Amino acid sequence: MLDLMDQRQEAAERVRNNILELAEYRDADRQGWTREVFSEAYRESRLWVAARMAEAGLEVRVDTAGNIIGRLAGSDPNAPALVTGSHTDTVDGGGRFDGIVGVLGALEAVRQLRESGVPRRRDLLVVDFLGEESNACGLSCLGSRAIAGELSRADLDRQDYRGISLGQSYQDFGIDPAAVLQTRWARTTPLHAFVELHIEQGPTLETRQLPLGIVTAITGIERLVATFTGSPDHAGTRPMDDRRDAMVAAAEAVLAVRREGCGAPIHGVATTTRVESESRSPNVVPSLVHMTSEVRSVDSSWLTGVRGRLTEEILTNARELGVDVEFDWSTDNTIVQSNTDVQGVMAAAADSMGIPWMPIPSGATHDAVHMAGLAPMGMIFVPSKAGKSHCAEEWTDFADIATGVGALTQTLTDLDRAELNR
Ligand code: GLV
Ligand code: MN
Ligand code: MN
Repeated sequence: MLDLMDQRQEAAERVRNNILELAEYRDADRQGWTREVFSEAYRESRLWVAARMAEAGLEVRVDTAGNIIGRLAGSDPNAPALVTGSHTDTVDGGGRFDGIVGVLGALEAVRQLRESGVPRRRDLLVVDFLGEESNACGLSCLGSRAIAGELSRADLDRQDYRGISLGQSYQDFGIDPAAVLQTRWARTTPLHAFVELHIEQGPTLETRQLPLGIVTAITGIERLVATFTGSPDHAGTRPMDDRRDAMVAAAEAVLAVRREGCGAPIHGVATTTRVESESRSPNVVPSLVHMTSEVRSVDSSWLTGVRGRLTEEILTNARELGVDVEFDWSTDNTIVQSNTDVQGVMAAAADSMGIPWMPIPSGATHDAVHMAGLAPMGMIFVPSKAGKSHCAEEWTDFADIATGVGALTQTLTDLDRAELNR
């Protein structure tokens, strides 16, 4: 009989082999471990994932939104199912762990559940959600949005920078976009709970030297596309005090966005990811500039005021420069709280295994945001080396992943029997 240490080591080894094997499905023309949604590398990798699910003893299907779903039957076909999973697509230049740990870790949890022989009443579904990362059309969590009924016809019309719509991208990938909109589970499938194992993607757990985080809430995200319109003029002759320079107004706005994030009382971050000038010539005062920014927080009292505060500050600064601004604000997702009963089950599981943990908010968004609309939701975090993520250096020690998988396995075992308040 193997002792607990040996079992953890073997689990770490199995998950390690799978993670490194999946990482080989990548776009060789891009930096890092790139496997973007709708890419050829992603298409091929999904066959590999489905094969691993089948190997783990799951009954595998791909739903009409392109989610890969593996089912481990429970003893009571009428009991609402337990769901776990995450995603296997990456950002451009991304790493090998974000999302992947939650899918391949869930397969290891299935192995451990089966091996334990503990009777399970509920079906367990392991989902590899399609396209979690924000894609070229600017939309994240495609698969979980579809399942939750939060994907609209208007979303399918969104276009990427090449003018290709999201609907067309689905079509080219072999998924019928009309069927995607029909995928929603809410009408047909009552669920007991959704839990997602994920890397932290920030430095908190490592700094506190803790192996586990139990997520309290997932950040809300407000996105802004601002368009600055000034006046084109000769860059060599127009005096500095008589310009309407759209680039300078955008630069002021970049700093205003940063100040907003720095001023958050509890938790807040604000980032400008793109500033694009339509002026091609180096000797013309820029007259048309587009800026893309986002602001995130788990503090709703602060986040709800962001649109008003930033709009006013950006406008005031731009007016002083004689520049007009148009604002296009959108909410990528609202703040979502984890279910307190699910957090309690996770905490009890960690305590029973002697795993130290802390409550932690998530600054990244996840499929769990959308699954929370269907079922009580909770997330388990494992540490990220130096807090790095969405880059090639992204790393989590396999021993830490094994600890997270252990906590996930125990949580799934306990949730099978737990009564949960919604
Ligand atoms: C996804 O990783 C996000 O937080 O944008
Ligand atoms: Mn992720
Ligand atoms: Mn990500």
